[in-house]
Amino acid sequence: MDYKYVLTSKNGRVGIVQLNRPKAYNALSPALMKEAVDALQAFDRDESVGCIVITGNEKAFAAGADIKEMQTAVPTDMLNNPFIGYWDDVQKISKPLIAAVSGFALGGGCELAMTCDMIVASDTAVFGQPEINLGVIPGAGGTQRLTHAIGKALAMEMVLNDRRLSAEEAAHYGLVNKVVPVETFIEETLKIADKIANRAPIALKMAKEAINAVYEMPLQASLAHERRLFYLLFSTADQKEGMDAFVNKRKAEWSGR
Ligand code: CAA
Repeated sequence: MDYKYVLTSKNGRVGIVQLNRPKAYNALSPALMKEAVDALQAFDRDESVGCIVITGNEKAFAAGADIKEMQTAVPTDMLNNPFIGYWDDVQKISKPLIAAVSGFALGGGCELAMTCDMIVASDTAVFGQPEINLGVIPGAGGTQRLTHAIGKALAMEMVLNDRRLSAEEAAHYGLVNKVVPVETFIEETLKIADKIANRAPIALKMAKEAINAVYEMPLQASLAHERRLFYLLFSTADQKEGMDAFVNKRKAEWSGR
C-alpha cells in the first residue's frame, strides 16, 4: 500500500510503521493518523507478522495532534471527525505493539506511545502533555493513561503545568520499558520486538488482552476473564506443542493455531 505520511517495512516477523512528516515533527494530522491506523491494522491481519513497532525519527516520535488543523474547529467539527477515535483503533490492535520513541513525544504523540503495549525510548526522548499551553487538555487518553502509568501527582504536574519527562525520568517512573542510545534505538527496539514476534501468537494476543483488562474491569471480573482466556488456550495446537516441547526438552515450533 502506498502511503503519503507513513512508511512501512518488515524485519523478519516484525512489522514497522514509521510516522513520516519530519518537517512538522510528525504532527499527527487526521490524514497521518488514518494511514498509521490502516498500516497497523494491515500488520495485525498479516499472519507473517508477530509483533509491530511504531516509530518516528530521531528528532520526533510525534509533537502531538496537528494544531493547525484543529485551530478553527468547533465542537461539532471534532465530534463529526473520526480523528480522536484513531487512538481507540490503535488500542484495538490485537498483536503486541511497541513504540520506539526518540525526541519529542508530546500531546497526542505521548498519548499514541502510551496506547502501545511497551515503550522503548532513546536517551533523547522527551515526554509531555503540553495541551494546557493551547488552552485545552489532552483528548486522546493522556489524563487517563498517564495517571495509570505514573500516578496522580506527576500526571497532574505534567498536565497542569507542562512538566516534561526525560527518557531517564520516564523509565524511573515506569512510563517506558527501556532507555537505549539514540544511535541504535530502532535496532534495540527490534531486538525486543523480534523475540516477542517469535513467540506463540495466540497466547501473545490473550496475554495482551488480559493485561489490558486491568484498565477496563473490576478485579473479580478481570480475574475470571483471565481464567477463561487461560482455559481457551488449551484448545490451541500451540499449547500442546509448547508443553510437549518442554517435556521432551526441545524447542517449540509455533503454528499460531
Ligand atoms: N501541530 C502542527 N504543527 C506542528 C506541531 C503540531 N503539534 N508541532 C510542530 N509543528 C510544526 C511547526 O508549526 C513548524 O512548522 P513551520 O515550519 O511550518 O512553522 C515545524 O513543525 C517546526 O516546529 P517549530 O518551529 O516549533 O520547532 P521547534 O524546534 O522550535 O519546537 C516543538 C519543536 C517543541 C515540538 C514545538 O514545535 C512544539 O511545541 N510543538 C507543539 C507541541 C504541542 O503543543 N503538542 C500538543 C498538540 S495538541 C494535542 O496533541 C491534543 C491531543 O491530546 C490529541
